[in-house]
Amino acid sequence: MEKDVYILAIESSCDETAAAVVKNGRYVLSNVISSQIELHKLYGGVVPEIASRKHIEKINQVIEEALEQAGMTLEEMDAIGVTYGPGLVGALLVGVAEAKAIAYAANKPLVGVHHIEGHISANYIENLELEPPFVCLVVSGGHTHLVVVDDYGKYQIIGRTRDDAAGEAFDKVARAIGLGYPGGPKIDKLSKEGNPNAIKFPKAHIEDGKYDFSFSGVKSAVLNYINGAQMKGETIVEADIAASFQKAVTDVLVEHAMMAVKDFGMKKFAIAGGVASNSTLRGAMKEACEKNGIEFYYPSPILCTDNAAMIGAAAYYEYMAGVRHGWDLNAVPNLKLGERI
Ligand code: KG4
Ligand code: ZN
Repeated sequence: MEKDVYILAIESSCDETAAAVVKNGRYVLSNVISSQIELHKLYGGVVPEIASRKHIEKINQVIEEALEQAGMTLEEMDAIGVTYGPGLVGALLVGVAEAKAIAYAANKPLVGVHHIEGHISANYIENLELEPPFVCLVVSGGHTHLVVVDDYGKYQIIGRTRDDAAGEAFDKVARAIGLGYPGGPKIDKLSKEGNPNAIKFPKAHIEDGKYDFSFSGVKSAVLNYINGAQMKGETIVEADIAASFQKAVTDVLVEHAMMAVKDFGMKKFAIAGGVASNSTLRGAMKEACEKNGIEFYYPSPILCTDNAAMIGAAAYYEYMAGVRHGWDLNAVPNLKLGERI
């Protein structure tokens, strides 16, 4: 019987200060998240300076709570895992500096984790049977990546957005129809009252990158539609705009994901990231996977948005692969997936 591995994980790449204790990469003993959403709502988006300041204020408290809820001490941890990129540099630095200080003081190994590897690994938590290889669609506020997960820690990015991330498009469209920040969950909710076929918004296909995405066109089309209607003095039906926009985005995501699964001969498909909690996207992916005989995996909403449990899951596989970072670990705002620094 192998010894259990406990990881204290820290995440501070954007606007959530989070810490978690994860056993063997799959069992979450605690998952504490201090969200700054209410604060950033005032500005209609994340203000990096404010995010860093809030992280510094909350981080010790969040870590203490994570250990307490897990009923464990720092001494019992096998390693400290931390997101070191990509993300907002000032925000990342708070988590990285904290993780280094703790690892140094408690004499524990330090394991830096890629934020997207964390999002993908969220799927391991509630799906104990899930093992690579599989295809994963990562859709968040900052990223839209179609990834072939060949093995733990081994990724091929086969598709990415050429402009806005999917979540960014949701947030911008939500702002245009007056829903406020963060827009994704609000569009999700409002869409249920609207007709997804009311307005035909464009679905971008990229000539020289069949798995790539582009969301700036559909976003502009929504803005033009609203302006046009206002100029003609017509009333707009926000719910129809929300539902039609959501359909245009979802259709492309499903189409590209299924193409990738087939082309790479995969039998499993997973979604991850904040937008993965979108109910229409989940429903459409589930249906497409069933139709194509593909096993579909998705994390609970709390594991889709930024959290530290997913970082603990990813850190475990990095730790088991022998990855250890030194005291020179730095925040890397544009860290590439699969790149180990
Ligand atoms: O993964 P996440 O918490 O942060 C990043 O790493 O970016 O993702 C946040 C994004 C935001 O753009 C938010 O609007 C979007 O995820 N989001 C949603 C939903 N819930 C969150 N988008 C669509 N539908 C949702 N239900
Ligand atoms: Zn994220």
